Amino acid sequence: MPSDSPAPVSPSASTRSDSLLGKLVVEQKLCTSDELGDCLSLQAELERENNRRSLADILLANGYVTQTQLRRISGSIEEQKTFQQIPGFQIISKLGAGAMATVYKARQISLDRMVAIKVLPKRMSESQEFVNRFYQEGKAAARLNNANIVGAYDVGEAGGYHYFVMEFVEGKTVYDHLVDSGKPYPEKEALKIIIQVCQALVHAHAQGLIHRDVKPKNIMITPDGNAKLADMGLAREAGDKEVALAEAGKAYGTPYYISPEQIRGEVNIDFRSDIYSLGATLYHMVTGRVPFDAPSPAAVMHKHLKDDLVPPDHIVTTLSAGISEIIEVAMAKDAKRRYGSTSEMLSDLEAVARGEPPLLARRSYDLSSLAKMEKEAATLQPDEGVEMLAPEEEKTIDLGSRSLQQKMTDPLVLALLGALVFAIVIIAIELTIILNMRPH
Ligand SMILES: Nc1ncnc2c1ncn2[C@@H]1O[C@H](COP(=O)(O)OP(=O)(O)O)[C@@H](O)[C@H]1O
Ligand SMILES: [Mg+2]
Repeated sequence: MPSDSPAPVSPSASTRSDSLLGKLVVEQKLCTSDELGDCLSLQAELERENNRRSLADILLANGYVTQTQLRRISGSIEEQKTFQQIPGFQIISKLGAGAMATVYKARQISLDRMVAIKVLPKRMSESQEFVNRFYQEGKAAARLNNANIVGAYDVGEAGGYHYFVMEFVEGKTVYDHLVDSGKPYPEKEALKIIIQVCQALVHAHAQGLIHRDVKPKNIMITPDGNAKLADMGLAREAGDKEVALAEAGKAYGTPYYISPEQIRGEVNIDFRSDIYSLGATLYHMVTGRVPFDAPSPAAVMHKHLKDDLVPPDHIVTTLSAGISEIIEVAMAKDAKRRYGSTSEMLSDLEAVARGEPPLLARRSYDLSSLAKMEKEAATLQPDEGVEMLAPEEEKTIDLGSRSLQQKMTDPLVLALLGALVFAIVIIAIELTIILNMRPH
């Protein structure tokens, strides 16, 4: 706090803090520049009388700022000093912090525009592999051009900090909205948002970029209702599971939207992980609840892997069957049972928004119930000589793609073959009898 800081400050340092403070109070509309001018003249007058008072003191005494506002502003001043090394940008305020980084609002001096700068912690620069990936993905993200993706402007390093400059989005995140309103989104409104995010993902996936962290906190809604997906293409220092645990540890959330394969630490995470997370996000939006909740992050992860999803329309009974089916297919534990592409999911979302059924979800739902019935039949009669399905066959719902050999050993096929042979033998016997009875 400049006003009650006990440490003696050199005049130049204190003047710099004062001028930053002056700029910030005007920028944040706590007082006008004329009012600031009056405070500064008063400060100069007092100084001439050998009575040095900080600008903070004077602003406080005049009622322009409260102690709390001053505390907040002096926090920004400290940060601004720390990140003043980022050339070409002027840090204005802190927008928020996630598990891995802090986001600041800043002015890009050359273009005189507001931007958001994500500053990664210094320790991230220790791994050369991470740094390379960060720049690579930054470049890839900068190539994306979509109204529903927060634009990536620049990546760089200054004073040992890696940073990512992006489009500044005025507005709230879907997470903020859920917390502030305390109730679920109406179906139509949720669909309007998720359709836009799905369009963003179709675009990103077509360029080979996987988001890996689709969640309500990464969806920003502008004042005119447009959804923008943030953090596209940000490289991860740690594995997905570690990031999720770090978030939980810092109370930024628990791994509520993470796909089972990310939890298992699989290396080849593809677009289907984003489909799962988008489904989990939609689940939260329309039910007001996360899909799986438990007291610890590890228990939440366990549920993603093992527990059956409570269908969304069992929680909010006014939801359409269609939206529930979309969510259930998107959140299938086995990635192969999810949508075959993000465009498929988009076409179902658009169908439900028009009041039509989600045909692709329904087809995949039918196939999975068929596979389930087949599995149940096999487990119900294990001692009637019916062979159990091998585990990897249990996972497959695409019946058409099984090998001929697999099809031939299917208990149903075996039974049919048996019946066929039996029928041929009967017919042969009948024929022999008829032929023998014919008069010669
Ligand atoms: N481009 C942006 N424009 C405005 N605010 C942003 C932007 N990106 C992030 N934020 C804000 O900063 C917060 C922290 O972001 P981030 O570090 O990505 O963490 P997380 O996504 O886990 O919340 C977000 O919740 C959001 O409120
Ligand atoms: Mg984010």
